[in-house]
Amino acid sequence: MILVLNGPNLNLLGKREPEVYGTLSYEELEEQLEAWGQQLGTVVVARQSNHEGQLVEWIQRAESEGFFGIVLNPGALTHYSYALFDAIRAQPLPVVEVHLSNLYAREPFRTKSVTAPATKGVISGLGALGYRLALEYLLEARA
Ligand code: DQA
Repeated sequence: MILVLNGPNLNLLGKREPEVYGTLSYEELEEQLEAWGQQLGTVVVARQSNHEGQLVEWIQRAESEGFFGIVLNPGALTHYSYALFDAIRAQPLPVVEVHLSNLYAREPFRTKSVTAPATKGVISGLGALGYRLALEYLLEARA
C-alpha cells in the first residue's frame, strides 16, 4: 500500500494555472493514481491537505497504517517547511518527492526544496506521469 500526499492548493488542479499544472483535475488525478495502483498490483491511497500539520500527521502515521512508501508533492511547503523535512526524517518509509511542474524553469524561489534532502529522490516537470514513476520506484525498491 502506497500513500500519495498532495499539499496546499493541489485540490485546485485543473482550474489553477492550467498552463503550468495542466487540465487534469485533482479528482481525476486521484482516480488515475488508484488505477495505476491496480495496474501495478498495489493499493494507492491519495490524500490532499492545505494544512502543514495534517501532512505531518499523515507522514508520522503512514508506517503504522500499513503503507510501505510515500509519494509526496508538498506544494509550496516544499520551499520552506522544515516541519515536513523533520517528519520525513523521523519515520522509516522511503519518500519520493514529486512536482508536476519543472521547479528549475520557474521563479527562483522554487529552485530550492528544503524537503528534498530528506527524500529518496525528486521527480519534477513530468506532469502527472511523475507520480506513476514514483509508484514504480517504490515498488521496485521494496522488491
Ligand atoms: C508544485 C510546485 C510548487 O512550487 C508549487 O507551490 C505547487 C505545486 C508542483 O507540483 O509543480 O503548489 O509542487
